[in-house]
Amino acid sequence: MNQDKKKYMENNLSYDLNEHSLISPLDSESPLYEPKIRLGVLASGNGSNFEYIIKSIQNKKLNAEISILIVNNPNCLAIKKAIKYKIPYVIINHRDYDTRLEHDRKVSKKLEDLSVELVVMAGWMRIVGEELINRFTNRLINIHPSLLPSFKGVDAIQQAIDKSVTITGCTVHYVQKEVDSGSIIIQAAVPIQEKDSKETLKQKIQKMEHIILPLAIAKVAKNIRTNFKGNK
Ligand code: GAR
Repeated sequence: MNQDKKKYMENNLSYDLNEHSLISPLDSESPLYEPKIRLGVLASGNGSNFEYIIKSIQNKKLNAEISILIVNNPNCLAIKKAIKYKIPYVIINHRDYDTRLEHDRKVSKKLEDLSVELVVMAGWMRIVGEELINRFTNRLINIHPSLLPSFKGVDAIQQAIDKSVTITGCTVHYVQKEVDSGSIIIQAAVPIQEKDSKETLKQKIQKMEHIILPLAIAKVAKNIRTNFKGNK
């Protein structure tokens, strides 16, 4: 392992990163900033990324607090994690709204009422509209299980398998109107091995997601803090 990468991991994010994985960009200095950033997390599924954000905060790798978890699916497991870690959560079920716009408005309002500064889509299986995107310009990020711009949209892991690529991965990016298309913040590569099933590949990708998402949050948070100071 190269010395910069090793030093980085020792100093900042001491994760179990195996040598066959690649994260980029991987800075040698941690993105430090003050004061802590207020996060809103949007999730629809298991909430493993949500949990790793919480762990990064607990381990003092990420200077943040989670103001709210918003879920659109009342049965999603992310709720159990919110309860376990005593994070406030709210269910805003899209089925209760006639239009995407109304649902987006409700989500936006909740985030704004809580003065959320950075919104993290951590397995949010909904397309977000301009309502949310415009209110949180440069403050709305998403994690996607492919090396974008390859394999946008649903079932990205299966798409990669179907195309027989030998390397895939995950991407954290800013959210813009076109799905999975905003500027890339950080990516991790994951080789696909012949013995991999969709499930084992998913596990490998998620392991990398759990590393890069907290890192991306810190990077964006630092930008927010830096710009804020600059505007004063
Ligand atoms: C993650 O793998 C994330 O990349 C993916 O959903 C999973 C959520 O897992 N997101 C998308 O596919 C968005 N297009 P989690 O609920 O365990 O964090």
